Amino acid sequence: MQVNLHETWHIRTVEIPSRLVLAPMAGVSVQAFRRQGRRFGAGLVCSEMVSCAGLQHGNERTLGYLRIASDERPLAVQIFGSDPAVMAEAARMVEDAGADIVDINFGCPVRKVTKTGAGATLLDDPDRACAVVRAVASAVSVPVTVKLRRGLENGSRACLTVGPRLVEVGAASLTLHPRSAKQMYTGTADHSLTAELVSLVDVPVVASGDIVSRAQAQAVLATTRAAAVMVGRAAQGNPWALREILEGDHPEPSREEVVAELILFMRETVRELGEHRATGFLKKFYGWYLGHERFPRAFKAELTQLPTIAEVESRLLAAAPGARFVLARLEETLPQGDEVLLDLPISIYGGG
Ligand SMILES: Cc1cc2nc3c(=O)[nH]c(=O)nc-3n(C[C@H](O)[C@H](O)[C@H](O)COP(=O)(O)O)c2cc1C
Repeated sequence: MQVNLHETWHIRTVEIPSRLVLAPMAGVSVQAFRRQGRRFGAGLVCSEMVSCAGLQHGNERTLGYLRIASDERPLAVQIFGSDPAVMAEAARMVEDAGADIVDINFGCPVRKVTKTGAGATLLDDPDRACAVVRAVASAVSVPVTVKLRRGLENGSRACLTVGPRLVEVGAASLTLHPRSAKQMYTGTADHSLTAELVSLVDVPVVASGDIVSRAQAQAVLATTRAAAVMVGRAAQGNPWALREILEGDHPEPSREEVVAELILFMRETVRELGEHRATGFLKKFYGWYLGHERFPRAFKAELTQLPTIAEVESRLLAAAPGARFVLARLEETLPQGDEVLLDLPISIYGGG
């Protein structure tokens, strides 16, 4: 039986219009990525993980992650850290910034994060993990959700003991990426654990890991009874994957569409990060967008060598002149003006 991916579901009072969630990805999930994800049908989007210590110290770059636009919503902002009081304070800032949901990261396997006792390490310290969730849930009135891995070591089933405890202390939803922290991104996500977790808790569970097609999304939803699937890497430079997952068979985008989406993404990212940061940040996206046999490899390599974003844009438009019209139409349909909810000085957005 086909699962209806357009079905609305809820995390407490937050209404989520489809059963597809765009994954939080550090170095990827900028505002342009999230807005694009919403346009292509994701029911919920999430910021990349934000350091609670960075928020506590008022670090400008960290505060910039709290920039939220109305057309991203519903949106979760993800925080990481291991000190319950600092996490609670960070959650208040996230709520004040206009996020609909505060998500907590108990899944990051990267040493820089785990050595501070945060991320996936907390799966090995359930008492502290519960203290963090309890403190955050009592600090804010928006729902608090948690994203976790299966455990630290290969074969670990820690998520099945920790997950229900997190729900008891206030988690309104859990997202499971059923790989161990040790696995990083190797091997496969074992969604039989997702099914077990679903049977243990009475809050919505989101299944994350290796969802790249409609067939896989359908299979995971049917076999796990998860509330939604989360899509990460498959959507990098490829929002059309979201459309395929939601709608089924869809023609490949034309070169003009690809270039128009990429240029829109570049322009929005420059606005968000400033020209300097955006120049390096965007390089990986050229390969992602222009891959899938859409453009020759040499063309992608050429773009990454160009010194300015303006030159990349001109080169792209020379390769697909019709993209100009697609882009104009696209920009017309986007909300303009005062979509930024957060009232922070503009320099925080990396512009100055
Ligand atoms: C580049 C990259 C950055 C990521 N950053 C985060 C993050 O900040 N927070 C988080 O919870 N998960 C993060 N993840 C994990 C993803 O959210 C997701 O759970 C994982 O990639 C599996 O899903 P996929 O197979 O659809 O990519 C990241 C993954 C990648 C590839």
